[in-house]
Amino acid sequence: MDAASWNERYRGSELVWKAGPNRFVEEELAGLEPSGRAVDLAAGEGRNAVWLAERGWEVDAVDFSGVALEKADRLAAERGVRLRTVRADLTVWAPTEATYDLALIAYLHLPWPELSRVLLRAATAVRQGGTLLLVGHHAANPEHGHGGPQDPRVLYTAEQVADLWRPYADILRAETVTRPVKDAEGVDRTALDALVRAVRR
Ligand SMILES: C[S@@+](CC[C@H](N)C(=O)[O-])C[C@H]1O[C@@H](n2cnc3c(N)ncnc32)[C@H](O)[C@@H]1O
Repeated sequence: MDAASWNERYRGSELVWKAGPNRFVEEELAGLEPSGRAVDLAAGEGRNAVWLAERGWEVDAVDFSGVALEKADRLAAERGVRLRTVRADLTVWAPTEATYDLALIAYLHLPWPELSRVLLRAATAVRQGGTLLLVGHHAANPEHGHGGPQDPRVLYTAEQVADLWRPYADILRAETVTRPVKDAEGVDRTALDALVRAVRR
């Protein structure tokens, strides 16, 4: 989906995603002492970025949807924190190396050649000792899970991401994880996500 399609999806006062952080982001990062600058790549309406800011991180929230970033700013104001929102296409956005103490990528789905370039830039944007966290819909989700993009070209496994980051970072977790969701009829289903957590060398 391009920026115009995402803007269309985000238009309206309702949040497309919920206001609280993603469960895996919260589980993985709640115990991490806020230690400076964080970047949330494809931040959307800011649910994770705002939660990080509330915990004491100085957060850059990057997304190519201006509508989403306006909502992220509003959510931050409601919660009494500030984000630095950056409207940019991640396929060309090039952060300065070793700028951040934490890089988060949650549910960004692009064809692998583009996504892998974004993930490599995320890795080099993090300082030595800093944390990289990725969560996304797993490649097996269309067949064995529920929801999310169905196009296999934009899905990935945790191992794929870990292999990409391994030359730059120590991999702490690279796993398929499950998330309870409801389908359109309100029936309980299980979504499959890829989760990778790494520490920059
Ligand atoms: C599924 S949403 C996830 C939002 C957020 N990370 C979360 O977990 O709530 C995917 C986001 O990726 C953004 N996005 C997709 N392609 C992008 C690109 N090339 N550059 C910047 N943002 C992009 C969309 O605008 C959208 O906000």
